[in-house]
Amino acid sequence: MKLTVFSGRANPPLAESVASSLGLRLGQRIIETFPDDELYVRIDEDVKGHNVYLIQPTNPPVADHLLELLLLSDACRRAGAERITAVTPYFGYARQERRVKGSEPVAARLMADLMGTRVDRVIAVDLHNPAVEGFFSVPVENLSAVPLLAGAIRPHLIQGQTVLVAPDLGAVKLVQRYADILNLPVAYIHKVRGGTGDVSVRSVIGDVKGRRVLIVDDMISTGCTMVSAIEAVMAEGCEPGILVAAVHALMAGDAAESLARLPLDRILVTDSLRIDAGTTLPLEVAGLGPMLADAIKRLHGKDF
Ligand code: R5P
Repeated sequence: MKLTVFSGRANPPLAESVASSLGLRLGQRIIETFPDDELYVRIDEDVKGHNVYLIQPTNPPVADHLLELLLLSDACRRAGAERITAVTPYFGYARQERRVKGSEPVAARLMADLMGTRVDRVIAVDLHNPAVEGFFSVPVENLSAVPLLAGAIRPHLIQGQTVLVAPDLGAVKLVQRYADILNLPVAYIHKVRGGTGDVSVRSVIGDVKGRRVLIVDDMISTGCTMVSAIEAVMAEGCEPGILVAAVHALMAGDAAESLARLPLDRILVTDSLRIDAGTTLPLEVAGLGPMLADAIKRLHGKDF
């Protein structure tokens, strides 16, 4: 079966990286937004009988990127594609995976249902909650960028002096995975979120005084969680030159400006989302292209 890779408009540089790691060129397609805000999608490739991979994280504008993905998939299906896989390294709405007050939708389930109407498989990276995999009616490969990020940050760590920090209790399992790879001690932050999304720290559990800290999270969205964690470990007397690692750099609102004001040595992220080339943050980007390409090769099997 032939393999064809298309990119949506969410992250073409990542799609280029995946395609070049596979030794392929990206499939030709046209995606436009009409004056009335409707999307227009057309594929300019013969995909009859092909195994198609659509590279499209569903970052903001989430609804547009999701719809673009579904339209691309629909076009490929109607053109005779044999199997369609959505490569959605960042899956939007994954944080709305349960009803908090009892009167909301389970938005992550709805997004998963919508994806399942048009694609045969999904490749994601570090879903906010691994249980979200079970929301899909199609198979999901939930890859992890933790080994990649841990390997990239390792040269900047000083054994015996660095402590890993989970910025909230939701990151406990994540920080443990870094700890297993990097063999570092762990501290935890007890974070509470107010009704309007504001974040405050109740306590730091563990010893960060006089230590260098590496704070890890699955994503930086508004930056509130990370900023409050950084301020908390600074208040506890950690060493300057704080390290941060996060898989998904959403950088919503004024996240970049807030982080820029803090004494950070390095912010290690992946390119699951398109990185602002003009950023002045001390960003180091670990590319997901080869890892995603390996997953595609594995799924495509002997035909590759
Ligand atoms: C929360 O459970 C997540 O793991 C992140 O800590 C959070 O979503 C980051 O969001 P923000 O940057 O807006 O605080």
